Amino acid sequence: MLELSLAPVAEAGVTPVWRSKDLLDTDVLCADEIALIMETAEAMAEIRSRPVGKVATLRGATVVTLFYEQSTRTRASFEVAAKALGADVVNLTASGSSIEKGESVVDTVRTLEAIGADVLVMRHARSGAPYLAARHTRASVVNGGDGTHAHPTQALLDLFTMRRRLGSLEGRRVVIVGDVVHSRVARSNIWTLLAAGADLTLCGPATLLPRTLASASERGRVTVTTDFDKAIEGADVVMALRIQKERQESGLIPSLREYISGYQLNARRLAKAAPGALVMHPGPMNEGIEISPEIAHGVASVIEEQVANGVAVRMAVLYLLATARRS
Ligand code: CP
Repeated sequence: MLELSLAPVAEAGVTPVWRSKDLLDTDVLCADEIALIMETAEAMAEIRSRPVGKVATLRGATVVTLFYEQSTRTRASFEVAAKALGADVVNLTASGSSIEKGESVVDTVRTLEAIGADVLVMRHARSGAPYLAARHTRASVVNGGDGTHAHPTQALLDLFTMRRRLGSLEGRRVVIVGDVVHSRVARSNIWTLLAAGADLTLCGPATLLPRTLASASERGRVTVTTDFDKAIEGADVVMALRIQKERQESGLIPSLREYISGYQLNARRLAKAAPGALVMHPGPMNEGIEISPEIAHGVASVIEEQVANGVAVRMAVLYLLATARRS
């Protein structure tokens, strides 16, 4: 069973108070909980920077990554994070498991709990699937991305990356550009960025923008615009989102050429942002479409830092969920 030593994190000055069984989205996190994740992730980054980079804090725990949809960053970084905390890790994908024989989500998570899973990291093409899973297992469930709904650990690692580079985000201008309406990354980022006090602009073709925002507080604090050239003026952070080629086939954009002309993050546009502005992208990128290659790999880009920070943030999430299971 789970052996939980708080020593490595306590040494870094973090006193965890975490009560939730699951992490399904950011919209249920209060400012204190987001701050706790950020502080714990700093402690985890410090652990990662040590020569060994590992602790035995989650020795005896079993983390299962259950991915019904493709992933490189999320799946690999959860595996690295769990192993860095000393947990055992089991990786399952739909292909090659009994999911291919038609086993349901509920039966799958119950089976994994019976095998000894303490934490299930789940990605699913259907919005809401991790919520269903969480209702049917005593294991902690982390949403690793569900349909077009939410991707909480991506938003948290994005926030961690911005804070490390810029300090407080209070009053900082963040522009998210692209296929906002289909983006689980954008949805989860809206909440964390507003909680952090950022001034947020969502930008893209009208067909790829939300018609309404979820809450009155979002409506009052988020600018929605189709004019990227204006939105990027003075921005401190520009986050480009992946544009899926199916959007052209489904008629939501006239052509990729027109999309590039209006919305590609390139050198000409980045020159209008604030000096030292950060370029971000959750990945995987379509270089040459939503972002030009020289900007994706240029000095302003923190895209690889986002990926690296994902390990520390996911270590923090696994650790905090384990503290809640222990209490
Ligand atoms: N950002 C993200 O979720 O990437 P993966 O699909 O590679 O996990």
